[in-house]
Amino acid sequence: MSDNSELSNLVRIVAPKIDRPLVLVGLMGAGKSRIGKMLSDSIDIPFVDSDIELVSAARCSIPEIFDRFGEEFFRDAERRVMKRLINDGIQVISTGGGAFINPQTNALVKEKAISIWLRVEPELLAKRVVKNRDNRPLLKGRDALEVMKSLAEERYPVYEQADIIVDSYDVPHESTLISVMEKLDALLNRS
Ligand code: S3P
Repeated sequence: MSDNSELSNLVRIVAPKIDRPLVLVGLMGAGKSRIGKMLSDSIDIPFVDSDIELVSAARCSIPEIFDRFGEEFFRDAERRVMKRLINDGIQVISTGGGAFINPQTNALVKEKAISIWLRVEPELLAKRVVKNRDNRPLLKGRDALEVMKSLAEERYPVYEQADIIVDSYDVPHESTLISVMEKLDALLNRS
């Protein structure tokens, strides 16, 4: 079966069963926004990105928020944005890499949403983020691989609590999307 008809069949089965927000979690460069947008397009529900929502509420960029107000302020703003998005009905929410690590956000996602971890090796993430590192304060002036390895050590035990885990290595995005749909189908059949 071609990827296209495989995907259409899965969408037909899965889309009517989606009853909660779908929350993409994982490190910077994991593909949360890209896969999240594809997921929302295919099942025809809205897409939001917590970083974009935060920037538009704060009216300044993420690096500016870190510079002017500090990381703690950013994390609190991120928690508030996530609370609003999760309570905003059924949609796909792509999150900043630290969002699911916040205990309150983590508890809210577990209670009200389906979480999907896009798991990628730190080596591949480090290669991917090179292009967009200026917009990511955690990478500023630091070796991307070192940052990714240390974030992976700290955060993977939390991301592992996600409802769905999909390995998203160097494969076409369509294949990752199909894996997400298959796991969603299995999860929704159990619940
Ligand atoms: C962060 C990830 C970024 C952004 C901020 C902090 C993190 O989002 O929220 O720079 O703590 O991992 P992406 O994961 O979308 O790059």
